[in-house]
Amino acid sequence: MRKQIAAANWKMNLTLKEGEALLDAISAKPHTLLANQEAIFAVPFPYISMAQAKVGAKTNVFVAAQNCSDKASGAYTGEVSVTMLQSMCVKYVVIGHSERREYFNENNELLAQKVNICLENKTTPIFCCGEPLEIRESATQNEYVAKQLTESLFHLSEESIAHVVIAYEPIWAIGTGKTASSEQAQEMHAFIRSHIASKFGQTIADAISILYGGSVKSANAVEIFSQPDVDGGLVGGASLIADEFVAIINALKK
Ligand code: PGA
Repeated sequence: MRKQIAAANWKMNLTLKEGEALLDAISAKPHTLLANQEAIFAVPFPYISMAQAKVGAKTNVFVAAQNCSDKASGAYTGEVSVTMLQSMCVKYVVIGHSERREYFNENNELLAQKVNICLENKTTPIFCCGEPLEIRESATQNEYVAKQLTESLFHLSEESIAHVVIAYEPIWAIGTGKTASSEQAQEMHAFIRSHIASKFGQTIADAISILYGGSVKSANAVEIFSQPDVDGGLVGGASLIADEFVAIINALKK
């Protein structure tokens, strides 16, 4: 069965102390992760060591970075390389979040480089895709998302694509309180899977985890995660509240 993942995306929130307190509070609340389930915490770079110390030793719990450089190393002041992250035992990196696409001009071509450098360093990219509101309103979201996937992932080998996690995050649902309906999420996830299958074959497509992101909370997680092609969520706002995130972990499909 595909991996089911509850991934927290803290974005640029919380002080170190607040982050520590949040991880302690989550650890203290009852939650179980089955063999095919994972909880991932995508924390700001300076908190990676702290988060590793708090939860890194737990079974099926991982610390992730929210971004990485497309370059291997060198004179790139302020950047963080995948090699650095790997040296800190970081297994996952969020790549191409819509906020990075929008505010930091990250395009499909650059994101293909970031995906490559992650995979070359045995680090799993959580590759984000998703359409803005005007695209959804013009009913061209499938073409839009297909282009994102094609331009950033279709150069990969079958072996490499198997190590990618995809997160579908409709931009109009991020931080807005507006969630895609479970039907809208399922429809797009099935489309993403079929698009991956068209290039890499059904077996590979069936094994890739596709997370939904956009105003996931405890109140809607069970319904969204129960959709056949939804394999968990990438969660922003609700991941900053211990009770919420624990409930979201517990909502993962069994
Ligand atoms: P949200 O953010 O859950 O606050 O909508 C999701 C994300 O941007 O990953």
